[in-house]
Amino acid sequence: MTFSRFHRAGIAVLDSRGQVLVDIPAEHAICRRISAHPRGGALGCAFDSLVSAEHQIDDVPQQANCLCGLRYELLAIRHQGETLGRLVFGPYRPENLTTLPRGLARALGEAGDVSDNAFLGSVQTDLERLEVVPTDQAQQIITAIGGVLSVIVHTGYARHLTSQIHIAAIQDAYNELSEKNRRLADSVEKLKDLDKLKSSFLATISHELRTPLTSVIGYSEMLLEGLAGDLSKEQNDYVRTILEKGDHLLRIINEILDVSRIESGAVQLNFETFDIPDLLRQVADAMMPQAQQKEISLTYDAASNVPVIVADRAKTRQVLINLVSNAIKFTPTGGTVSMLVTRKEVVDGGGVSRPSVEMRVVDTGIGVPQDSRDKIFEAFFQVDGSSTRVHGGTGLGLSIVKHFVEAHGGHVWVEDGEEQQGSVFVVQLPINPPADVRAKRSRSSALGGTLVG
Ligand SMILES: Nc1ncnc2c1ncn2[C@@H]1O[C@H](COP(=O)(O)OP(=O)(O)O)[C@@H](O)[C@H]1O
Ligand SMILES: [Mg+2]
Repeated sequence: MTFSRFHRAGIAVLDSRGQVLVDIPAEHAICRRISAHPRGGALGCAFDSLVSAEHQIDDVPQQANCLCGLRYELLAIRHQGETLGRLVFGPYRPENLTTLPRGLARALGEAGDVSDNAFLGSVQTDLERLEVVPTDQAQQIITAIGGVLSVIVHTGYARHLTSQIHIAAIQDAYNELSEKNRRLADSVEKLKDLDKLKSSFLATISHELRTPLTSVIGYSEMLLEGLAGDLSKEQNDYVRTILEKGDHLLRIINEILDVSRIESGAVQLNFETFDIPDLLRQVADAMMPQAQQKEISLTYDAASNVPVIVADRAKTRQVLINLVSNAIKFTPTGGTVSMLVTRKEVVDGGGVSRPSVEMRVVDTGIGVPQDSRDKIFEAFFQVDGSSTRVHGGTGLGLSIVKHFVEAHGGHVWVEDGEEQQGSVFVVQLPINPPADVRAKRSRSSALGGTLVG
């Protein structure tokens, strides 16, 4: 545009098919006025023929004259031997043009008409006012614009090439990543299959072990009750040990069955309304023998504002039993274990406040090291995983706890005990199950019980 204003002529850039890419018309109106004349439109402007692909273009400027005597310069735009398009400069007034060519008057109607004469006169005046651009200067101008254009094309093309290389490199990296992803996905699939195999193996074996074990337990009970005659004191002790060990084995098998049920997604929550103090009493009763064996004092307390809650009672009981049995197991003789329940407003990640109960199982035992506090909730994880460990167990109790609590929309974690002694397991359960928990429940019950065992 600056070029065009400076030299008072139009500039156009066309691509190789004659498509106009840039068109800056000349400021003077001579051509426009002639085309607007009733017979002028039919004359056809030189510009139209320059645009057409038939017009030869060259690396040196070529001229084309219009019927009105004004002139155009034409130059090829090339890049690496290929013709990309053409550049047009004009119409401008060449040095020898002082009057309108006679041919124009003839074409417009032989100037017989008074109005035609007036028209030609005023166009002639326009022409005289127009500044002359000598042809050699016009050629320098178009060559200069051509030079600028080819620099633009060149740098543009270089950039284009660089970005193509860039894109190709990224595409390569992407392909490689996709391939890696695919292999990873394959591995994950295989691992999942293996995991399923493991779960169904555990479920089958546990199920098969449980049946004979119930007979062992049943017959020991009958022996102890004297159904097969009186036992000597020694026989009685032996059978009692068989019964205790059998019970223990059954608990382990049930834990494994619980975990395989959880993993197969077959666990359902059965909601009912129940009273927390009642539940605490039951759990304490069930755990009392274990506590007494180690002379551990087992207590419980529920704040007076703790309401009845809607949850799966059996699973909540299981949660407390698992936590209390851990607390007893990991607390040395003479310690204390207590269950404390309070009412609590729990604010979730989205800022929604939910009425909940908070159950704390507090012990004075060995505590859980800081770096194991997340891991202990994983299946089979034990802080002391050595074969020489003192405390028995499968490492499944807490993973069951976590699953049951979270299925209710609750949370569980472990904290330091008071004065750095022992540990506190904290469970928060919503007083009423949140909507998404209920929805999930009805979906899983619609699937039906596909569980093994
Ligand atoms: N009250 C506790 N005090 C100290 N450590 C605990 C306590 N409860 C759990 N742990 C640690 O967490 C591990 C996992 O517990 P759990 O899943 O119940 O498995 P298990 O009782 O069969 O070992 C335990 O082996 C123990 O290392
Ligand atoms: Mg345990």
